Amino acid sequence: MKYGFFDDAALEYVITTPKTPLPWINYLGNKEFFSLISNTCGGYTFFKDAKLLRLTRYRYNNVPYDNNGKYFYIKDTTDSEAVVWNPGWQPVKTALDKYECRHGLGYSTFTSTKNDVEAKVLTFVPMNDNCEISKVTITNNKDKAAKLSLFSYVEWCLWNADDDMKNFQRNLSTGEVEVTDGGSTIYHKTEYRERRNHYAIYSVNTAVDGFDTSRDAFLGAYNGPDSPDVVAAGKATNSVASGWSPIASQQINLELKAGESKTFIFILGYIENPEDDKWEAPGVVNKKPALKMIDAYKSEAAVDAALSELKSYWKDLLSNYHISSSNEKVDRMVNIWNQYQCMVTFNMSRSASYYESGIGRGMGFRDSCQDLLGFVHLIPDRARQRIIDIASTQFQDGSAYHQYQPLTKKGNSDIGSGFNDDPLWLIAGTSAYVRETGDLSILKEMVPFDNDMSVAKTLMGHLKCSFDFTATHKGPHGLPLIGRADWNDCLNLNCFSEHPGESFQTFGPSEGPVAESVFIAGMFVKYGEEYAQLAELLGDQAEADRARDEIKKVYEAAITAGWDGEWFVRAYDSHSNKVGSKECEEGQIYIEPQGFCVLAGIGVKEGLAEKALKSVEERLDTKYGVMILQPAYTKYHLELGEVSSYPPGYKENAGIFCHNNPWVSIAETVLGHGDRAFEIYKKTCPAYIEEISDVHCTEPYVYSQMVAGRDAKFFGQGKNSWLTGTAAWTFVNISQYILGVYPTHNGLSIDPCVPADFGDFEITRKYRDAVYHISVKQNGAQKGIKKLTVNGKEVSGSVIPYESGVKEYTVEAVMG
Ligand code: BGC
Ligand code: NOJ
Repeated sequence: MKYGFFDDAALEYVITTPKTPLPWINYLGNKEFFSLISNTCGGYTFFKDAKLLRLTRYRYNNVPYDNNGKYFYIKDTTDSEAVVWNPGWQPVKTALDKYECRHGLGYSTFTSTKNDVEAKVLTFVPMNDNCEISKVTITNNKDKAAKLSLFSYVEWCLWNADDDMKNFQRNLSTGEVEVTDGGSTIYHKTEYRERRNHYAIYSVNTAVDGFDTSRDAFLGAYNGPDSPDVVAAGKATNSVASGWSPIASQQINLELKAGESKTFIFILGYIENPEDDKWEAPGVVNKKPALKMIDAYKSEAAVDAALSELKSYWKDLLSNYHISSSNEKVDRMVNIWNQYQCMVTFNMSRSASYYESGIGRGMGFRDSCQDLLGFVHLIPDRARQRIIDIASTQFQDGSAYHQYQPLTKKGNSDIGSGFNDDPLWLIAGTSAYVRETGDLSILKEMVPFDNDMSVAKTLMGHLKCSFDFTATHKGPHGLPLIGRADWNDCLNLNCFSEHPGESFQTFGPSEGPVAESVFIAGMFVKYGEEYAQLAELLGDQAEADRARDEIKKVYEAAITAGWDGEWFVRAYDSHSNKVGSKECEEGQIYIEPQGFCVLAGIGVKEGLAEKALKSVEERLDTKYGVMILQPAYTKYHLELGEVSSYPPGYKENAGIFCHNNPWVSIAETVLGHGDRAFEIYKKTCPAYIEEISDVHCTEPYVYSQMVAGRDAKFFGQGKNSWLTGTAAWTFVNISQYILGVYPTHNGLSIDPCVPADFGDFEITRKYRDAVYHISVKQNGAQKGIKKLTVNGKEVSGSVIPYESGVKEYTVEAVMG
């Protein structure tokens, strides 16, 4: 069952009922000012950091699920019985005569009708200002005059979202606001008197008939946003909040003739003032920058121009990789939604979604490095800065803070370090950037350790630390030590937690000298080689040779101690017992080492790779994707940690963890299995499972972290949509491996691996300073380039030699 449809021409997903199985959300904002917005207008807003600079409040764990948003109420008093409704249906939930929500790239629109009154709300964050604009148009389609009141409503968060929901003894006394222009503009200035240099505004471009800034006055102490007193009474109270819970609400009364429309522009903005220019009078905030912002968007024309600017920005970004094929769903994901999700994961890492509270995890080291892989072709300059930021949180021995806070860019010491895959992801992200741009200067950039510039090294020096960390932290089988966990945060082989409430990730000794990871071995082979190539590019052949010697040792360990007979072992625990082996009672095979070792090329020539992938197909595959492990753990294993704490079929315990499905699909392309690679791609691909939205539940336009596995009661149900490494990895898979346009240091390589019936296709790819128009004649082949012609000349191999100065490449690739 579907709850909407894709409108590819408009680059939108159109939701046709507010009652989706879960809130289906969108992200607004591209740089520093962001909002989450659901299909019923739920969500919240923050500047830079969802924990530290939260503008509006959201309620977690609420009933109904998606509670608190930025709402508009329409009270229609034309007839004797007044009707109150919201364009997004919530929170009043009056049945609407028509409802449509369109989630677009960085904007959402809601068009609803009740009793022949139409409301259209367009919400977006403009490219160049720290604000969210809502353009609200009310049209009277009745055959008589309509008497209406429009009420706006946002609830302020007292900035630190964590403190805001805990520290009531203080917070209920600190709230402060200012109101100007009779209520048209409301300033939220809590803590501005002391340590903050910022305030927020909520403003509308018209004179208003009343306002409220006290939540209790607006809602009534015993009501929720579904039945505000003020709306019931039809009269704002002009309340000025002092402490408690400040809000911003305006009332606009309207008399619309038959057929008449009126538009209002609301702005929710974030303003910073210089320390020495905070006040215009004692106790009165300096409003100059706020007024400038308000002025910039006071006209419809200005708002429309800002929206077109946003739309052209996206159009331009998406033109960096564009496919035209006979597979509508592939085109839709590649050209629009997968790239869009890559931008969102780059911006958010794993901080703020409907599953990540924004107060927990900041930017993950491994997460952000992987997000770069799907983002770097969009805006390489931002990727460059991100790499430097991430590397700045590394320690001198190559290990790294597992997370850092986006506002301060400092490592988060609560979680600390000890996740032994982290260092190698830095090589992955950097290599992707250099292959994309050819910019070697980044490798020479001086980068601090743990933010301390006095011990800075070049970025290449950091990568050496990463490489050496793994090379020098090996266990009894010559495999890399796992530490607190590797990519699988829940495989905690040095944890041994017996009491509830202990973090599996930080409990226990991180420096276990015995527990080893075959997955990290795969990473070391893959990214070690990418490190060696970077060393060569810098002219350091000796370092490249040294690296390759180290890689050989780990490769050997992986195909010996890391091999179980039919598949790769997952790990060795702290007693040197195998994890993910036929010897185990539960958890005999794990997906990660099969995917990653094979994509790294391990066991290909020895025939192990074929076997490993066969075993995956036989033991882990389902109709909804490839499960992370089998058989699911039914008991808690102290020696394994969190993985065995989940009920069977969920999350890391035998769920379909979408993130590593592309690894297996890529691995299949390494072996030339186009049919199988694509089959795996399709199983978790949102556009291909739109039809089962009632089973899948999460948004049909983006990936979720997890789909419940075969052992779970709700097999096929998605959770944790949006913020997942799946976005980047599926984009890498489809764009670089299946469609086969892979950036190498010497130029783009064209080597697709597609299903036999895929058909011919064309790709436009911007790469460095040129545009490549690539057409692929498939000839029913799954892999192999028979002939490659570049600007009329045949070239040998699959790499289009990069020539600086050439701006357009016309490429014809014939498979066979
Ligand atoms: C989750 C993992 C996540 C980890 C982060 C665990 O509870 O299952 O997916 O990576 O927490 O701390
Ligand atoms: C989600 C985390 O963000 C990611 O870092 C981790 O690799 C996966 N869960 C698997 O545990």
